[in-house]
Amino acid sequence: MSETLDQLEAKRAEARLGGGQRRIDAQHAKGKLTARERIDVLFDEGSFEEYDTLKTHRCTDFGMEEQQYYGDGVITGWGKINGRPCYVFSQDFTVFGGSLSETHAEKICKVMDLAVQNRVPIIGLNDSGGARIQEGVASLGGYAEVFWRNAQASGVIPQISVIMGPCAGGAVYSPAMTDFIFMVKDTSYMFVTGPDVVKTVTNEIVTSEELGGASTHTKKSSVADGAFDNDVEALLEVRRLFDMLPQSFDSALPVLPTTDSEDRIEESLDTLIPANPNQPYDMHEVIRKVADEGNFFEIQKDHAGNILCGFIRLNGSTVGVVANQPMVLAGCLDINSSKKAARFVRFCDAFNIPVLTLVDVPGFLPGVGQEHSGIIKHGAKLLFAYAQATVPLVTVITRKAYGGAYDVMASKHIRADVNYAWPTSEIAVMGAKGASEILYRSELGDPDKIAQRTKDYEDRFANPFIAAQRGFIDEVIMPHSTRRRVSRAFEILKGKKVNGPAKKHDNIPL
Ligand code: COA
Repeated sequence: MSETLDQLEAKRAEARLGGGQRRIDAQHAKGKLTARERIDVLFDEGSFEEYDTLKTHRCTDFGMEEQQYYGDGVITGWGKINGRPCYVFSQDFTVFGGSLSETHAEKICKVMDLAVQNRVPIIGLNDSGGARIQEGVASLGGYAEVFWRNAQASGVIPQISVIMGPCAGGAVYSPAMTDFIFMVKDTSYMFVTGPDVVKTVTNEIVTSEELGGASTHTKKSSVADGAFDNDVEALLEVRRLFDMLPQSFDSALPVLPTTDSEDRIEESLDTLIPANPNQPYDMHEVIRKVADEGNFFEIQKDHAGNILCGFIRLNGSTVGVVANQPMVLAGCLDINSSKKAARFVRFCDAFNIPVLTLVDVPGFLPGVGQEHSGIIKHGAKLLFAYAQATVPLVTVITRKAYGGAYDVMASKHIRADVNYAWPTSEIAVMGAKGASEILYRSELGDPDKIAQRTKDYEDRFANPFIAAQRGFIDEVIMPHSTRRRVSRAFEILKGKKVNGPAKKHDNIPL
């Protein structure tokens, strides 16, 4: 008996070594953790349960039958993050470069199926040379099985991808269909075709980092939602995000007890808005002062900074925040910010996370570039996302809410539930000066007259009171009591139920 146990222990020890000490050392030399070390950081100590530890590939081409490694380049199973279960697959670059074989894909599919069945989120730690070259179409089929499951799981359980090494070719499309992608700076990259193919086809010379590194994908392409300095930081931040998310679309939001009183008054918010309407202020300050313990997990913070998206807690419960940021492009809506916020609102709606919208928006960004690149269609994404959302929506206008952008930013008209405005709000078709110059074009030559017209327009419209008279604003509130107002609004909205018309699914402008 003890010999049999020893045999199992020996096999497990061999599996733990992956592709061997030499390759583990090479992984460390690149500043990367191994697949198992990553799991250790991700999960609570001792909570990981592994499956298919001893699975091996079935390939017999190119002498592959001689090269067998337990686990076949991916470690799968489940563990706990601050006590809550989560499935994982972690690709082991030390085994055939973490490349995906038919059996490697089967292991991933097994945990994906369990995750959906058991309503438990899944995290993929990607570090792979792509499809296993020796296997050909069998490995491509394996990818497609994973892709199909990504689409099926979307909206059922949260799916998070962390890119911790190469992720190229078809491999990129599994992370691309998950809810969030995080990357590690300098050691990870994602592209459909690498620098060599790019050079051959388009004659462009580019490094892997420039083409698909963390900086490129968090700033330019917006493929990734965040980048971190190293493996440990990335995994710890993923734990932080995980803590905010529900287990599935039909489970309750996690609640973290807080000592931060719902009634906390923030006097500084009363003087946050500068007297000059063109002077910016940092919307982060409003978010942090409203949030429990000032905690804000920001999504896509390096992309489209004119809108801020992320998660906070109120009374311990998760709330998604969408906020115009006057410090960047005056907080206007453009293509990138509309796309960023639309996807975020849809994530929140899919997983029953209420949305708080903070509005200071001078309108849509004008320009030939924006129009020709489809601002109409992309702006409509955000409008659509809000209009079809059924989660509790609470909106606070802090300053400007101009034009169509007023409608888009979770206005009462597209069925936000509670709409507040600070006394500093200006709800109008456009800024007073622009409005006067259009209405009184014939007086343009007389600056004094235009100034008077502008003042008249401001007096009439640059305030929240007309909207309040109409009931489009439920209450004009003191900035210092925003946290209490918003928390109480979400409290009363907890039981919100909306039944839209029957349909197969909507047709969001893609
Ligand atoms: N299939 C099978 N084995 C692969 C592989 C793949 N797709 N990608 C990498 N490997 C193996 C390598 O043969 C090497 O094996 P070894 O340890 O026995 O020497 C090991 O993984 C590490 O690869 P290596 O090339 O030494 O690492 P690197 O860090 O220098 O480069 C890549 C990493 C991913 C850039 C490089 O391996 C590569 O270009 N792979 C092919 C990518 C590809 O075209 N995939 C198919 C498209 S989806």
